Amino acid sequence: MALLPIITAPDPRLKKVCQPVAAVDGEIRRLMEDMLETMYNAPGIGLAAPQVGVLKRVIVVDVSGDEEPEAPLFMANPELTWVSNEDARYEEGCLSLPEHYGDVVRPAAIKVRYLDRENEIRELEADGLLATCIQHEMDHLEGILFVDHLTALKRNMILRKLLKAKKADKPLASYATA
Ligand code: NI
Repeated sequence: MALLPIITAPDPRLKKVCQPVAAVDGEIRRLMEDMLETMYNAPGIGLAAPQVGVLKRVIVVDVSGDEEPEAPLFMANPELTWVSNEDARYEEGCLSLPEHYGDVVRPAAIKVRYLDRENEIRELEADGLLATCIQHEMDHLEGILFVDHLTALKRNMILRKLLKAKKADKPLASYATA
């Protein structure tokens, strides 16, 4: 496995719609494993392929707590098949927008269909942090960042700060999440 560099905003690769994978073959499985290692190392609870510069519909997620066993999920071509009417609000962060956070409202529970690491079709029902994290990662596959759910004022403020940090080549502490 290998650590992959994480792209930070603003970057045009984070704004692209990603392509479905034909199948989870050896190459995609390796991408998933590298993404998981990169996510754990960051540390984060979710990572989408465009965040490592691969414009494919692949995400990895693990919302298990520090004291719990690891519970990684590998998803290719994830699709929501159901969302709850009830919403939930979480303060979200993103490994591509380090040190910035914002409240995002999303459906509280979802069902998601996807291809797993073995190329099997799965359907998972999720709520709580897992539902939020999966939706956040799926947004990445559409070129949508959590700041796109905030007001233009807040979004522009965050992106301006990130651009400034990038220009100054300032190392950013990474206690962001997904
Ligand atoms: Ni993110």
